[in-house]
Amino acid sequence: RPPNLYSFTDVDKELAPNLRKYVLEQQNEALKRHGVFRVAISGGSLPKTLAKALLALPSGSEEDKVEFDKWEIFYADERCVPLTHEDSNHKLVQEELLNKIPKEMPQPKVFTVDEQYLDNAQEMADDYEKKLVSVFAARDSVKLPLFDLILLGCGPDGHTCSLFPDHPLLRETDAWVLSISDSPKPPPKRITLSLPVVLHGSKIGFVATGGGKKDILKKIFETEEGSELPCGLVNKGAGEKVSWFCDSAATEGVSFP
Ligand code: 6PG
Repeated sequence: RPPNLYSFTDVDKELAPNLRKYVLEQQNEALKRHGVFRVAISGGSLPKTLAKALLALPSGSEEDKVEFDKWEIFYADERCVPLTHEDSNHKLVQEELLNKIPKEMPQPKVFTVDEQYLDNAQEMADDYEKKLVSVFAARDSVKLPLFDLILLGCGPDGHTCSLFPDHPLLRETDAWVLSISDSPKPPPKRITLSLPVVLHGSKIGFVATGGGKKDILKKIFETEEGSELPCGLVNKGAGEKVSWFCDSAATEGVSFP
């Protein structure tokens, strides 16, 4: 089955509340399943939109409660820079989302990269993978970590996480976390979840807004070539587990399956 596609006229008034509903559905199901909500978040424009969704006033209904104290937040990709650096995805998520969670509310647990590995992207990836292993069980018993939700953005070239078009990392089948030192989007040194880990997620949500996404969405959803780009590979490999939250500026003229 193909991915689910939602296009909203307005980000603040429509997309954000619907994204909230979607995230909280995954949260509530995960809490029923295992009492914790494990979510991976990317950088780019996603954290800002996510904050609009999550920090809105709750409706009062039982299902509409963000239970941050049960959240375990991981990074779908991170840059090899200090956690206080302008380019750090953690800093971005902190500024856009975490710092805005009211202080009296219990806070989520956040898994950041270890700054001692800044000079060696591979060591940073291995260390982050170890963190995942310790959370998601021993490597021997679990083939892949099972995130309850993976939230992604879509780059103008069709990249997602730090998985870039035609990059050899896309063929990686073993490691959970990969390093890249030639990222076409700066900064060049990064770590990223591997494609099999992304495809294995319980649910995968893309957020793509603004007219700048129009051409790439057309390519991904309408062409053979686009279906081979990283975002297209996620659509193809994970099908109905994938949901796209877009605004009408991003989907203008795009015909969806
Ligand atoms: C990163 C991101 C990256 C991002 C896309 C889309 O760290 O660079 O995780 O994968 O999500 O480039 O970014 P925008 O939402 O800003 O277009």
